[in-house]
Amino acid sequence: MNEHVSLSLPAEEPVQRTNSRKVFIKTYGCQMNVYDSTRMGDALASEGYVTTEEMGEADLILLNTCHIREKAADKVYSALGRLRDMKKARAAEGRELMIGVAGCVAQAEGEEIIRRAPAVDVVIGPQTYHRLPEALRQARNGKPVVDTEYALEDKFEHLPATDRSKIRARGVTAFLTVQEGCDKFCTFCVVPYTRGSEVSRPVGQIVDEAQRLVDGGVREITLLGQNVNAWRAKGPLGGEWSLGDLLYRLAEIPGLARLRYTTSHPRDMDDRLIEAHRDLRNLMPYLHLPVQAGSDRILKAMNRRHTGAEYLRLIERIRTARPDIAMSGDFIVGFPGETDEDFEDTLRIVEEVNYAQAYSFKYSTRPGTPGADLADQVPEEVKAERLERLQGLLLKQQGEFAKSCVGKVIDLLLEKPGRMPGQVIGRSPWLQSVNVDAKTSQIGDIIQVRIIGTGPNSLFAEPAESLIGA
Ligand code: 5AD
Ligand code: SF4
Repeated sequence: MNEHVSLSLPAEEPVQRTNSRKVFIKTYGCQMNVYDSTRMGDALASEGYVTTEEMGEADLILLNTCHIREKAADKVYSALGRLRDMKKARAAEGRELMIGVAGCVAQAEGEEIIRRAPAVDVVIGPQTYHRLPEALRQARNGKPVVDTEYALEDKFEHLPATDRSKIRARGVTAFLTVQEGCDKFCTFCVVPYTRGSEVSRPVGQIVDEAQRLVDGGVREITLLGQNVNAWRAKGPLGGEWSLGDLLYRLAEIPGLARLRYTTSHPRDMDDRLIEAHRDLRNLMPYLHLPVQAGSDRILKAMNRRHTGAEYLRLIERIRTARPDIAMSGDFIVGFPGETDEDFEDTLRIVEEVNYAQAYSFKYSTRPGTPGADLADQVPEEVKAERLERLQGLLLKQQGEFAKSCVGKVIDLLLEKPGRMPGQVIGRSPWLQSVNVDAKTSQIGDIIQVRIIGTGPNSLFAEPAESLIGA
C-alpha cells in the first residue's frame, strides 16, 4: 500500500439533469482509497449524484480519509473545520451541504468524528460503502449516521458495476481491488485495525471486473490489496489459487496489455508468483516490496517475520526470474529502540538492493498498535536526521535508475495529453512518466520510444521509428 496520493475525483460527465445533486470526493492516502472513491462515486451516481471537481458547487462533500500516520488524521479534522464554516454559510443562503467522512479515519474514530465535528452527517467505514446512499437518506432526515461495522455481506456484490462510458472517461489505466485487510500485525501499523482481517475477492468477480475494464478501453490494470500477494481463493477447478495463478488467468484476457499489483509482503512472495514474473510478458517488471528496516533486531520488533538476509535472497530469486525488474520499497526510520547501528543496516540493505523507487517515513506512533507502548521512542531530531540520510541515498539511486534508461528503446503506454500541445505522457514498464511527441488520438496505444533524457520526475523520449535510419 503506497500512501502518496491525494487527489479529487475528476468530473466525468456533463450535468444532465438540472435537479441532480453534485458530490465532491476528496481522496487521501493510498491507491485503494482512490479505487474506493471511484466505486463510491458510482454508487452515488445511481442515486442521481454527479461528481464535480468544484468543491464550491457540491451538495455533498465526501472525505475519503487515511489513518496511516498522525498528520493524516489531523489534516482531516482541520478540513472538517473549514467545511463546518462552509455549511454554516450555505445554511444562511438556505442551501444544503452534506458532509461525509469515509475511509480509515472514519473506521478508527467512528462516533468521535461526530463529537469533534458535529457538522458531519455521515461517517462510513471501508467495509460498508455499499450502504452509503442509504446512510445519506437517513442522515437527511435528521440525525447523523455512523456506520463502521464490519459488514457480513460482501460490499462488492452490492456496489453497482461501473458503466462503460465512465470507464472510458477515466482513462487507459485502472485499479482493481482484489484483496483487503491484513493479518500480519506489524507492530507499527494501524491497517489490521482499520481495514480488518484479510479478505480476498473471488476469481469470478475479479475476472468479470477486469473484462469490463478492458471492454471500456483499459490497457493496464493494477491489482490492489493491503497485502495483495496474500490473495487466496478457490480456483475454477476447485483447488486453491494464489496471486500467481490469478495473474496467469488475467494475462489471458485479450487486449489487457499490462498487469501490475501492489502492495506485497515478502513473506507472501511464493514460487508461483515468481514464476509469473518469469513467464508473463504482460506482467510489468516492477515490484513494490517493502522491507521497512534493515536490522534483524528491528525487523523482529516490527513483527515483519523475516530477516534482512531473507529479504535479499528473495530479491535475488525474483531478479533471476525477471532480470529487468525494478524494485521499489517502503522504509520507516526511528522505530522504537532503533540505534545508529540498526539504521546503518537499513542503509546497507538499500545499497544492496538498489531501488528504482522508494518511499520513506519517520516512525509515527499510532495509538492502539503495539509499537505505541514500546519504551525507547526515538527523538524527533534523530528521526529527521536519519530520514534525510536515507532519502539522500534513495534519491541518488532513483536518479541513477532514470539515467540508466537513457538510450534504451522501450514500450510506452500512451496515457494522457502532455503539458505542451503535441505531447503525450506515457508510462514505462517501470512505472515512470515519459513525455513524447505523439497525437492524443494515440492514447491507449503502446508505442516504441527511445529515452533521450531525464527530468526531475519524468523522462523524455522520441518515437523510435523516427530514429530508424537517422
Ligand atoms: N509510521 C510511519 N510509517 C508507517 N507506515 C505504516 N505505518 C507507519 C507508521 N506508524 C508506512 C510503511 C508502510 C507505508 C504504507 O506506510 O512503510 O509500508
Ligand atoms: Fe501494515 Fe504490516 Fe499489514 Fe502492511 S503487512 S498493512 S505494514 S500490518
